[in-house]
Amino acid sequence: MNRKEAAAREAAKYVEDGMVVGLGSGSTASMAIKLIGQKIKDEGMEIIGIPTSMASDLLGRAVGIRMGELDDHREIDLTIDGADEVDPRLNLVKGLGGALLWEKVVAASTKVEMIVVDDSKLVEHLCQKAPLPIEIVRFSHRTTARRLASLGCVPELRVADEDEPFVTDNGNYIVDCRFDRIDDPKSMESRINAIPGVVENGLFIGLASKVIVSSADGIRILEKATPK
Ligand code: A5P
Repeated sequence: MNRKEAAAREAAKYVEDGMVVGLGSGSTASMAIKLIGQKIKDEGMEIIGIPTSMASDLLGRAVGIRMGELDDHREIDLTIDGADEVDPRLNLVKGLGGALLWEKVVAASTKVEMIVVDDSKLVEHLCQKAPLPIEIVRFSHRTTARRLASLGCVPELRVADEDEPFVTDNGNYIVDCRFDRIDDPKSMESRINAIPGVVENGLFIGLASKVIVSSADGIRILEKATPK
């Protein structure tokens, strides 16, 4: 079993009958979705899945999870999602898979936001290894990118196949922004989102409650000091 699968397997243990469960995006969260589907078949459990992307919606349905809409639920009991970086305070960079907007909306409505990663995702400070994905509207996207650069980063428009811009589930573009480091992520999150044309950014500050870290030594669970 690889490290991502070990983390996903641990997270799936927390899913219980009757829960509303947020289904994350990316390779690690997809493994968790498949394991939840298996658990439904094996244990006859019933849950409602809330997607964080079109891909997680499709996968959830394919493995037999009854999918619902966030608007029909006041709160999600548990969301299992991946991350691109995790700092010591359990702040995250997310969005290398392009699903950061729905992921953040779902995380903000979740009681227990459980992040599944292998130990390569642990960093001392955010944006140490990964660029920060920022979803922006297509209109005037080069102007928006120039404004983002004034915050001290180097923005690069994400491209998909054949050098066409990558388009999110919401029809927007993503710029991947390289920062040397982000010392005050909470303030940076607000400064980025104040730029006209920005839809959302991949800084997840204070949203994760538990991080399941899989390494060669086994599973470790990091918990937020003060529960949400
Ligand atoms: C999706 O938009 C991201 O936030 C993912 O959660 C993130 O990229 C982690 O993906 P992996 O589990 O594939 O590394």
